[in-house]
Amino acid sequence: MNDNKGLPRHVAIIMDGNGRWAKKRMWNRTQGHERGADTVRTITRVSRKLGISVLTLYAFSTENWQRSKKEIAALMHLLKTFLKSERNELLDNNIKLISIGQTTRLPDDVQTLLNETITLTSGNDGMILNLALSYGGRDDIIHAARLCAKEVLSGRLTPDQITEDHFNQYLYTAGLPDPDLLIRTSGEMRISNFLLWQIAYSEIFITQTLWPDFSETEYLSILDNYKHRDRRFGKTTTKGVKNNAV
Ligand code: FPP
Repeated sequence: MNDNKGLPRHVAIIMDGNGRWAKKRMWNRTQGHERGADTVRTITRVSRKLGISVLTLYAFSTENWQRSKKEIAALMHLLKTFLKSERNELLDNNIKLISIGQTTRLPDDVQTLLNETITLTSGNDGMILNLALSYGGRDDIIHAARLCAKEVLSGRLTPDQITEDHFNQYLYTAGLPDPDLLIRTSGEMRISNFLLWQIAYSEIFITQTLWPDFSETEYLSILDNYKHRDRRFGKTTTKGVKNNAV
């Protein structure tokens, strides 16, 4: 891909299959997640290089809190390692880090590192790397609905003023464009509570590849496939709505 034309503005990824990748090798799940973190680095770099505006990665869901203490600890440790090791890379490449989800549920040391990195990179405008952490799509909607209800109770908002655009402003993703492309690795055909509101018109691509094996080459071929999709947004015409960064 040698130009930005037809590239999605916002790519969201459900990074699945770390556990199966490790199991196939008789390794432990942590090793799968470690290799998964390497793929995060690769895909972030490629996205930046290509000129993607927003990359959202589903790194930890609200449901993931139900995994074993050991696995949660390993994932939190990996996240800290990532935040420390990638800080300079983010700064050097003009990438702004943000996060969505119930981040106050994360361990204090992870929150500290996360907030420090968010603050440090807040002036960057080359690309947004958005980590979904302790994120759930239903929680996102409930959280937004509560904020709206509070505004109504305070008299600053009337129920009729709650439009789609207005509601958007209360979501964790406020200010971001909706994902144009949603990729899920490891072949599962489900959304798993990811960005339920925001993916209303996203193009979906599911690959059998397990996340640790997901490569730059495959990413480029998915982006090429996206280029040729005909996004109609519920309309019938196929003219004039070809993918062009929406
Ligand atoms: C799903 O694989 C993956 C996760 C629950 C966590 C994703 C985490 C990473 C890719 C690494 C750390 C992230 C960052 C941002 C540094 P799974 O464990 O559900 O795989 P399985 O379905 O094969 O068991």
